[in-house]
Amino acid sequence: MAQNHVDTPTPEELVRVIALDGPAGSGKTTVAARTARAVGWRFVDTGATYRAATLAVLRAGADLGDPDAVAAAVAGARIELSTRATDDRPTVLLDGTDVSLEIRGPEVTAAVSAVSAIPTVRAQLIDLQRRAIGRAGAVVEGRDISTVVAPHAGVKVYLDARPEVRALRRRSDGPAHGELHEVQQALATRDALDSQTNKLVPSDGAVHLDTSDLSLEQVVDAVVELARAAGIVEDADTTGAAPATSPLPWVQAAGHRKDWLIGLARPFGWLLFHSAFKVRVVGKQHVPRTGAVLMAGNHTGFLDGPLAFALCPRPATFLTKSELFVGPISRALGWLGQIPVHRRRPDRAALRSALQVLQHGGAVGVFPEGTRGAGTLETVSDGVAYLAVRSGAPLVPIAVLGTSEAMPKGARLPRWRTPVTLVFGPPFTITVEGDPRSRRTVRAAAEQIRLALLAHVQASAAQYSAPESTS
Ligand code: DC
Repeated sequence: MAQNHVDTPTPEELVRVIALDGPAGSGKTTVAARTARAVGWRFVDTGATYRAATLAVLRAGADLGDPDAVAAAVAGARIELSTRATDDRPTVLLDGTDVSLEIRGPEVTAAVSAVSAIPTVRAQLIDLQRRAIGRAGAVVEGRDISTVVAPHAGVKVYLDARPEVRALRRRSDGPAHGELHEVQQALATRDALDSQTNKLVPSDGAVHLDTSDLSLEQVVDAVVELARAAGIVEDADTTGAAPATSPLPWVQAAGHRKDWLIGLARPFGWLLFHSAFKVRVVGKQHVPRTGAVLMAGNHTGFLDGPLAFALCPRPATFLTKSELFVGPISRALGWLGQIPVHRRRPDRAALRSALQVLQHGGAVGVFPEGTRGAGTLETVSDGVAYLAVRSGAPLVPIAVLGTSEAMPKGARLPRWRTPVTLVFGPPFTITVEGDPRSRRTVRAAAEQIRLALLAHVQASAAQYSAPESTS
């Protein structure tokens, strides 16, 4: 093998690993090559080892139906794999000669599923793959990396794409692939054969990323960001970063966020809140229906977040306290597009994710008092100011009134038919002088936001005391 380590690392030692699993055509190779280049790590294409082994079997004339003969042919072959981060496709040597092109040919592709299904072949090649991965850091693509080869990988991603997208990508690899429907059929057949060996499902803890509608840059950025957040990339700024599972906007958009569920949950919440309380929503016209918008509300009750989520005129991503992201609730919140945020320390990963939502023209909601206060807005976190300054998005203040009475602190049940009012104020933009990245600028912006929000909450409280449903 072309590598520094002659001994085989144990699975526990393979932590500095970005594991990219998924079916053919999901974009694994291109994403792996680009990611390796971005982080300066080795690139290990495990599929290439199965392909080289298959070529060895074909050359030896072994009967594909005879597992012992196949395994013997593989054992007698010398397979070497280049793992340079700069290679788009690693060079593969079989018994000293470069077979990089030949292993992509139709004969090998037709036989590789059968060869890779033999357990003794897999055991040999997995050993070889672990040596190629090494301990220094590698981006590894395959089908069983996060489950078998490197189950302790710091980052696990399952890449997928719709069948027609996968076929299109495969066909654009070269003219030898045939008509689109043929390519799609061939992929389906190989999926079926491969799934007898590897079930091709995301492993526990893997981030599922559907790449169908994403650009290559978006996918690579998301993967690098996960590696940074996991703290396995050296030059990463990990201070205050959330765990590797912190959902990124594209990850949410493509893998976690379920728009259909949001479409169901919001009307359901609307109904629930309207039946439980005397709900009034004012100023919905102030929320722009398209483009980036940042919304900031006062925080007095547990219901503030769910109310704003359900009654806001457009779906929005709220920064939600990370303590709520536990067990199955965590998954549900991810499906609803919510971002976990640490409240007691700066959470850069959460802010980065929220900023990306804004940069993609989305709506983000924040309760910038951090913790539930008396609604007097004595402090406003710098996070909301950072988002406003960096995105330039208009800020819509939200006054949330009555939620501390509707669900008093410590109460187990809400108080039936309590008046609850949500007032969206006119949008405004923050004007700052000086370097928008400096702490002082962000602090000044936070103070502007605090005063504007306080004025809006006080005016709303004075005006909207009598409940009546207008939404
Ligand atoms: O990714 P690819 O198309 O080059 O992979 C070739 C074959 O190798 C694929 O059909 C399944 C098999 N394979 C595997 O069983 N386990 C891996 N980790 C990688 C590939």
